[in-house]
Amino acid sequence: MKYSRMPIEIEAPEQMGYENIRCNLTESSFADLQVKDLGINLDDILLCYADHIGKKELRALIAADHKGITSDQVLTTVGAASALFIVSTTLLKAGDRLLVMRPNYATNIETPRAIGAQIDFLDLKFEEGFRLNVDELAARITPETKFVSLTNPHNPTGVMMTEKDLRAVIAVCEAKKVHLLFDETYREMTFGPMAPLAASLSPWAISVSSLSKTYGLPGIRLGWLITQDTKLFETFLAAKEQMYICNSILDEEVAYRFLKKKDQFLAPTLKRIREHFEIVKTWITQEKAMEWIEPAGGVVCFPRIRKDSGVNVHLFYKTLNEKYSTYVGPGHWFEQDRSFMRIGYGWPKTDELKEGLSNISLALREAKF
Ligand SMILES: Cc1ncc(COP(=O)(O)O)c(C=O)c1O
Repeated sequence: MKYSRMPIEIEAPEQMGYENIRCNLTESSFADLQVKDLGINLDDILLCYADHIGKKELRALIAADHKGITSDQVLTTVGAASALFIVSTTLLKAGDRLLVMRPNYATNIETPRAIGAQIDFLDLKFEEGFRLNVDELAARITPETKFVSLTNPHNPTGVMMTEKDLRAVIAVCEAKKVHLLFDETYREMTFGPMAPLAASLSPWAISVSSLSKTYGLPGIRLGWLITQDTKLFETFLAAKEQMYICNSILDEEVAYRFLKKKDQFLAPTLKRIREHFEIVKTWITQEKAMEWIEPAGGVVCFPRIRKDSGVNVHLFYKTLNEKYSTYVGPGHWFEQDRSFMRIGYGWPKTDELKEGLSNISLALREAKF
């Protein structure tokens, strides 16, 4: 493995210090909860090793959300991030090929790169509404392709695949006998109807998710992967055991007690996301220097500064960051042109979001050539 730090991590707000940022529009999750919001007491928890696969009752709760999935097909992991790592390091070795959607959550690209795999990119284009082209995907799979890696709802664009396309992708993967890594970390934040979990549709699909995004619990580092393939599951478990044996028993206990009453949190969360989405939509409709593809799920969008707007992109970020202490996720976090920016609208408080958007407009005006 050849590790190198990614810009999205080096420049992450938690590394800069949250206290140094006035308007934080960089985040891709819902607002973080405090322990006291959860109403749980952990005094009785014995600090022993946990079940290596994951707390049984927790896995049962996760599985219960998905028709056809059982608790023994769920492996808990340290966030979705380590689930993605486990999948990549299990399925790939140096020189192997895989097909990855780009832009993407950076780890989905960087881990295969660190392994020394040859990455074939499925580049999503603004002009095509950032839509995945299933025919192109099918044509780009080679006999050497080990897996296809997709994220849905998509980060950083918020665009969603249709259920028809998901089923078509799965049919292609089954026919070509390649695995599908389906990062569904934002799945519960879809605006429309939710497609079935990819892993419930085929043993070739591996679904990954966590409690970080929808529930604002990234601090407990609790994620999971799901697969019906028992042999592969065993290898994923071996990878987990070699890295960290088991999850933290405290994280699993918090996750379990939280998930038992998650419905209490989900409805107000989704309401607030919708309200914030409308604020962004109203703002961008009148902001003539920007254009976007309207998202259909998640808590992020990926608009860009119009080419004919006369804005100096470098000066825009400098003004936004230094004068207005406002931060967004610049395009280079996602290997894209810096005229693109990811705006996270689920995390900030309503006033912070409104002020941040208005600061973007001010910085755009002040950064004209
Ligand atoms: C698409 C996607 N997958 C996975 C992750 C990792 O999240 P976590 O490890 O907190 O579950 C992120 C975080 O930004 C993400 O955006």
